Amino acid sequence: MFGLTGPSGFSRFSTAEEVTHGIDGSGLTAIVTGASSGIGTETARVLALRGVHVVMAIRNMPAGREVKEAILKQNPTAKIDAMELDVSSVASVNSFVSDYKSSGLPLNILINNAGILAPPYMLSKDNMELQFATNHVGKDVMCIFRIFLMFMF
Ligand SMILES: NC(=O)c1ccc[n+]([C@@H]2O[C@H](COP(=O)([O-])OP(=O)(O)OC[C@H]3O[C@@H](n4cnc5c(N)ncnc54)[C@H](OP(=O)(O)O)[C@@H]3O)[C@@H](O)[C@H]2O)c1
Repeated sequence: MFGLTGPSGFSRFSTAEEVTHGIDGSGLTAIVTGASSGIGTETARVLALRGVHVVMAIRNMPAGREVKEAILKQNPTAKIDAMELDVSSVASVNSFVSDYKSSGLPLNILINNAGILAPPYMLSKDNMELQFATNHVGKDVMCIFRIFLMFMF
């Protein structure tokens, strides 16, 4: 709070590189939703830097490919993939889950980052208010998927 250092030794000013310093993530696989920009991009970059196999779950594939290339340019040994996901759409989440299961990858870390804040009133493809569909329903379904995979690997 207010930038004060907490019991962890970190504060709101700490960077992802600082908080993961010395951590070896090799052997782990993470999904980062909304990794095509902002906090999601930085999270994907730093997880990959720590050896985690990162699957960027994104709806804007061209932007995701650019992010992936930039990460690989900085870190040529990064294990990073991009898969299409619109968390506000039940059909897209189902399709993502099916593709992910087919990939045979485990899922150790789920970063449910994709989200929107106070957009004008709009409906999702499933006729739900868009922010509710994105920030609650989509994230909940991804959590259920994470729990499901916990029992498979
Ligand atoms: N930055 C802050 O101060 C702050 C504060 C509180 C909470 N948060 C939350 O932290 C998260 C990241 O914030 P940010 O600042 O990095 O935001 P951002 O730059 O707007 O990035 C949000 C990401 O979520 C993706 N996204 C949005 N709706 C999506 C959907 N339906 N399906 C898939 N991806 C979707 C966006 O993809 P597109 O590029 O395709 O739009 C974008 O990559 C958000 O959930 C935000 O609400 C941020």
